[in-house]
Amino acid sequence: MFPVSPSDEARALIRCSEVVVRSLTGGYPVRVGDGARYLLPAAVAAAAPSGRCAVISDERVAELWYDRVAEPLEQEGIDVVPAFFPQGEINKARAVWARLTDDLIIAGLGRDCCVVSLGGGVVGDMAGFVAATFLRGVPFVQVPTTTLAMIDASVGGKTGVDHAVGKNLIGAFHAPCEVLADPVFLTTLDPGLRAEGYAEAVKHGVILDAEYAEWLAASAGTLLDGDPEAVERAVVRSVRLKAEVVSGDLLEAGRRQILNFGHTVAHAIELDSGFTLPHGHAVSVGMVAEARIGEALGITESGTSESVRRLVAAFDLPHQHPSLGNAEHLARLMVRDKKTRSGVVHMVRLESLGRTVVVGERTVPIPEAELVDTLERLFP
Ligand SMILES: NC(=O)c1ccc[n+]([C@@H]2O[C@H](COP(=O)([O-])OP(=O)(O)OC[C@H]3O[C@@H](n4cnc5c(N)ncnc54)[C@H](O)[C@@H]3O)[C@@H](O)[C@H]2O)c1
Ligand SMILES: [Zn+2]
Repeated sequence: MFPVSPSDEARALIRCSEVVVRSLTGGYPVRVGDGARYLLPAAVAAAAPSGRCAVISDERVAELWYDRVAEPLEQEGIDVVPAFFPQGEINKARAVWARLTDDLIIAGLGRDCCVVSLGGGVVGDMAGFVAATFLRGVPFVQVPTTTLAMIDASVGGKTGVDHAVGKNLIGAFHAPCEVLADPVFLTTLDPGLRAEGYAEAVKHGVILDAEYAEWLAASAGTLLDGDPEAVERAVVRSVRLKAEVVSGDLLEAGRRQILNFGHTVAHAIELDSGFTLPHGHAVSVGMVAEARIGEALGITESGTSESVRRLVAAFDLPHQHPSLGNAEHLARLMVRDKKTRSGVVHMVRLESLGRTVVVGERTVPIPEAELVDTLERLFP
């Protein structure tokens, strides 16, 4: 149990790094560091004038962490309404959103409450969507508990649920008012999931910051061990990079496209695997493949794909997948991707490690026939 006292809070404030992320409603701090969890009572008190909040979590995270998170809130006189749902992407669904919203209504929460999300990306997307829609929007404090949720899902304000037809088809932009990323949560996370989140960190380095990419690879062992200082550095750097991209493009028109690097191929192989392939693995394979396609088309400096392969390998993430060998099928799936415009695949223009075209044409259109041809040559 961790007691919360003003001194714990003060110490956490001193220890944590802070990155301010611009959002449609102004901006919000992402506080990162060992002890960030101690700042939750103050964050909730600031967001909810009624002193009431709902803590939304999945059952697995709740079992491990709910008591330790709720107790300090209650000690500060905050009324906490727990609202849990079974873990897993399959539950990022409208029926669950409806049930959680019912929980808030039954508890009599009003506009002056706030929602706390305690969990990974699934919980963040779900709790954020509940917060976005409950009473037309209440404030939302995010406590990410997976690497991916800290590194990627805490920036951008995207919330929502899946539909049988596709992922994230129903949702809203609703930025949190504060994010508290405490590496302690990663200590209970499955090592495979710990590693997976770093695929997106590698992506941030590959598209924007070669030095960061190299630091990640050199620090992979410490990061995978969960060393709090290393985790803090990675989360701060990734959040800063993603925030820089997103803040110039709050409703996803142009610049954000570069964050899609690796994802055109990744979405196709995820679909091909019936979503049995973890997202981080698909992104790792996708980044290496897209760098190779870029090299083949003369867009990407040669040798880049080998660097990307080395970076993902440092985290024991894969760079190959059997789906790559089925060029026609893969190309068809890529054309069907929701980010595809008028039936032509657009791939992010990676120039070299750490350099993407960020102004003007950030993507390059590849006609389906050329794509099939290139895939056949690269992945016979
Ligand atoms: N909003 C965004 O910008 C954004 C960005 C990237 C991904 N996402 C979404 O994030 C989701 C994937 O997130 P994820 O990989 O964090 O998955 P997740 O939330 O499903 O978590 C993975 C598993 O780990 C468990 N878990 C979480 N934290 C734990 C902890 N500290 N200790 C032990 N177990 C823990 C969960 O119960 C779950 O079973 C996807 O739905 C994706 O669409 C959203
Ligand atoms: Zn991703």
